[in-house]
Amino acid sequence: MAPAKLDLKQHIRHVPDFPKPGILFYDISTLLAHAGAWHEALDRLAAALAPYQPDLLVGIESRGFLVAAPLADRLGTGFVMIRKRGKLPGEVIRHAYDLEYGEDVIEIQAEAVQPGQRVVVLDDLLATGGTMAAAVTLLEKVGAEVAAIGCLIELTFLKGRERLRVPVHALLAYD
Ligand code: PRP
Ligand code: MG
Repeated sequence: MAPAKLDLKQHIRHVPDFPKPGILFYDISTLLAHAGAWHEALDRLAAALAPYQPDLLVGIESRGFLVAAPLADRLGTGFVMIRKRGKLPGEVIRHAYDLEYGEDVIEIQAEAVQPGQRVVVLDDLLATGGTMAAAVTLLEKVGAEVAAIGCLIELTFLKGRERLRVPVHALLAYD
């Protein structure tokens, strides 16, 4: 008989009023700190994403790195970073996107993905989807084929997935 599945939501800490009053923060630190729960979280995401047969996994700085790097090892693929402005050496391709106040810039190394390569993009959390939509646009600029998106947590009430034109696999959904 297969072992019982852990209730992974029990390993997400809820922190009210962080980083601002009225915001409920879903803290993955407690999931990462529990060896068994983290292992199972990676197992489940790996099983959901393996069928896309990606050439590369892409992680979004910074918490996306925590998910993408170990998953790439599980799936036997390379791992590529999308970073915030000015962090990557060499030639980079960038994408600027609007925030509520101002704009943000993300970058990828020009040689990191070859045109036509299949990638899966990972982040810890899908909220408004603004970060992930920007990452998908950046990857399309470099000619990647974005096969799927994976995340640990989706805040479904923010409808982030409606901004994305690729399949989204969320381990835990909150509404
Ligand atoms: C958080 C989170 C996601 C993004 C989700 O990152 O890790 O990347 O916001 O929000 P969205 O769907 O509304 O765009 P944050 O910018 O706080 O930075 P960090 O990962 O470096 O902690
Ligand atoms: Mg982030």
